Amino acid sequence: MKKNILIIYYSQTGQLEDIVKNVARPFEARKEEYDVTYYNIRLKEDFPFPWPGDVFFNTFPESYLQIPREIFPPSDEILNKKYDLILFGYQVWYLTPSIPIISFLKSGFAEKIMKDTDVVTISGTRNMWMLSQEKLKVYLKNLGAKLVGNIALVDRHDNYTSVLTILRWLTTGQKEKSGMLPAAGISDEEIAGSVKYGNIIEKHFSSGNLSGLQPDLVKNGAVEIRPFLVRVEKVGNKIFTVWSNLIIKKKEKRPLLIKFFKVYLMAAIWIISPVVLVLHLLTTPIFWFKRQKQKTYLQGINLK
Ligand SMILES: Cc1cc2nc3c(=O)[nH]c(=O)nc-3n(C[C@H](O)[C@H](O)[C@H](O)COP(=O)(O)O)c2cc1C
Repeated sequence: MKKNILIIYYSQTGQLEDIVKNVARPFEARKEEYDVTYYNIRLKEDFPFPWPGDVFFNTFPESYLQIPREIFPPSDEILNKKYDLILFGYQVWYLTPSIPIISFLKSGFAEKIMKDTDVVTISGTRNMWMLSQEKLKVYLKNLGAKLVGNIALVDRHDNYTSVLTILRWLTTGQKEKSGMLPAAGISDEEIAGSVKYGNIIEKHFSSGNLSGLQPDLVKNGAVEIRPFLVRVEKVGNKIFTVWSNLIIKKKEKRPLLIKFFKVYLMAAIWIISPVVLVLHLLTTPIFWFKRQKQKTYLQGINLK
């Protein structure tokens, strides 16, 4: 009997689509063993790409507060099949799984498709995905799905360079390098190389040893944790909670508050986050063991 593999994803730029397709290649190559199906999540009212600047910032409150939109239903074929393994591709918007992903997870279709099924999550983000993965772990647990592996691909440039290049990319569509700035997003080599993670997943899946999958993925570079960014995310989540609730509550002041939020966000990235970095470095000896423990936890698939 052939095993059924489902790849669920959403991708605006095509970056995440390329990644999940590369990871799925080892399954595609064994046609006699696997039936591979793709489910591209589609919103009834999708977001524009490239993003007009005001839409980009205006999407923040609903993104962060995980307010879903309506999606087109998956096909009957997908809804009525039992899958043996799901590769779940997602991206992060404002430190949270993106609105299209949340819309699927909250849709009712997610439980039908994912309940009692092994899931490998695959994210393609700038570099701040760690606490989003924690949010996603909770969704998967509540849906009755079993997380068996995680791959987190990021832009490996320093935090400031990647802010500049991603804003250029998302608001103009220009991914290629320009002037002093390198190309945006995850490197082409890493996207092409993600097929190796597919090989690792296939090996563990076919031998029935999924419990050994995540350590093997981590050993092969699938999950890098930068402790400083975890700290920034923790602070960011606290601040985003205040801003998002304020903007949602004060409906009539929304355009003005979004403008303030934009200024605040830029100040947070360029002024507050360097301060956090210095404090983080100064406290390294004190928190060394705690941070090592946290790193091991975030590289794993368990939920605290
Ligand atoms: C509105 C918005 C907010 C984003 N916020 C984050 C973020 O908080 N952390 C992060 O690492 N990447 C963030 N990204 C980058 C995305 O995770 C993703 O890598 C990028 O948009 C590529 O798009 P695609 O996966 O839809 O092809 C954001 C992108 C958008 C459009």
